[in-house]
This record gives sequence, structure tokens and C-alpha cells, in this order.
Amino acid sequence: SRLYPITLGISKQLLPIYDKPMIYYPLSVLMISGIKEISIISTPDDLPLFERLLGDGSQWGISLNFIVQPSPDGIAQAFILAENFLDGASSALILGDNIFFGNGLSKMLLEANKNEFEATIFGYHVAEPSRYGVIGFDSEGVVDSLQEKPSEPLSNYVATGLYFLPSDASMIARSVKPSARGELEILTLLEYYLNASKLKVQRIGRGHAWLDTGTHESLIDAGNFVKTLQNRQGLQIGNIEEVSYKNGWISKEILKEHANRLNATDYGKYLFSIIEETK
Ligand code: G1P
Repeated sequence: SRLYPITLGISKQLLPIYDKPMIYYPLSVLMISGIKEISIISTPDDLPLFERLLGDGSQWGISLNFIVQPSPDGIAQAFILAENFLDGASSALILGDNIFFGNGLSKMLLEANKNEFEATIFGYHVAEPSRYGVIGFDSEGVVDSLQEKPSEPLSNYVATGLYFLPSDASMIARSVKPSARGELEILTLLEYYLNASKLKVQRIGRGHAWLDTGTHESLIDAGNFVKTLQNRQGLQIGNIEEVSYKNGWISKEILKEHANRLNATDYGKYLFSIIEETK
């Protein structure tokens, strides 16, 4: 994490974005995709903190599992570390600091999750593409290149930190060679699918927000974005209990238990409002 020096050595994904831990946002995205079996991958020091925060997931009707990444050797390594967990299944990977918001997001996610034989990534137009993995397109608008943090980006579309991969991802990840920065790059893994004509780039339109929290500026921007939207709409972003309840994974009684436990906070009051609305 680039914010490491100011986070007391704790993963920033444990810090709050406005009213809830950062990790809630990406976790809710997986849940919206219909995914119930989830592995959290983090450093040896921080993994126990994630476990303390999230538990085994049964309180949300999901199953959480925790895998240590001994050293920060790149995103693609996740598929090697999670090989046993995945047990030959197709999967989705989301970075713990990525926040997605927008109308129609759930439809896109459900579609990507259903597409088991192709890789799906999400392209988003940004002002500063060289900070990210850049997606190049041919004259027909079909993806034809992937470049990690290029100094001269070929487009303004970048790969967000959400990847749906087929069942062979762990095997392919084993053949990925470390990049110049010494990491097993996710784009190198994706290049395999690009070359095999099995990479789908789903563009996320301008009506969506994709926020990252890699700088102090973007961290506070994300908090303000969530605050502005939630307070205006009276609807929350990244509320795990709400997603779980609406997916039919927890009963109203369990939702009430969560609401009672968090009673003293606006987060808990929001859960009561959902119970009221769905009477
Ligand atoms: C990583 C990926 C990059 C992607 C970005 C999204 O970058 O390597 O391709 O665009 O996440 O957040 P990193 O977080 O390593 O800078």
C-alpha cells in the first residue's frame, strides 16, 4: 500500500472510508456478483486483523477463508496462493481498495460471473491512465494490448481492480514471470487470455464511479463521495448486511440482530430503515 507510512503499518484496507471499513466496499461487490465463498489474502501481520474484523462470514450468510501472502509479490500470485481454495473453479478477484458504484453494476457483475470460459475485466476512463494498467484497443474497439503503468498510455481506459477468470487461472499464473518491478503482474496473466482470444473488456460507462484510494487525495475523495451520495439518497454503498439480506442470504431476524448490535451508529439505524421498508 502506497499509504503505508501514515497508516501505522496497518493495511489501509482496514481503515474506514467514511462510515465503514474500506474492505466492505470490495467485499460487497463480490457478494453482489453472487459470490458466497471468499478468500481474503493479506500479509502475515494483517491477516489476523481482517479475521478479527470479518470472522468466518456466517453472520452474513457467506463463507470467509484467510490466506497469507508471505511477501508482496504481485496480484497474480493470489491465484497461486488460492489454488487449493479454488479447487479448479472459475473465480473473481477484487483488490481491497477498489470502490465501485453505479446503476446497472449488478447486471454487469452477474454476467461476468456467469461467463466461465472467458476472462472479464472492466475498463474505466480516467484522467491519469499511467497510474494504472492501460487497455489498448484496435480500430474496431477490440482490446489488443495491455500495459502496466506505461509512461505513454495508448488510451485513457484502464483495468480496474476486478477480474473474473476461468478455472485455469492458477495454472496460468504459475507460468507468469516477474516484471521489472519484481511482481507477478495481473496484466501478464491477462495477456495469456488476450492472446488466446479469451479476454473480454467490459467498459464501465461514465455514469459509474470507480474510485481508488492509493493517494491521500483519492482516499479523502472516496470518503467524501460516499458521504455525499449516502446522505442525499438515504441509501448506502458497501453495506454488507443490506447486500446479504437482499440476496436472500440472511433472514430478517438476523438482519435485526445486526441492527440491534450496531444500534448506536448511523450504520445500524440504516439497517433498521431497511427492515422498515421491507415490511
Ligand atoms: C494494480 C494493477 C493495475 C490496476 C490497478 C487498479 O495496480 O497492477 O493494473 O489498474 O491495480 O487499482 P497497483 O495497485 O499495483 O498500483
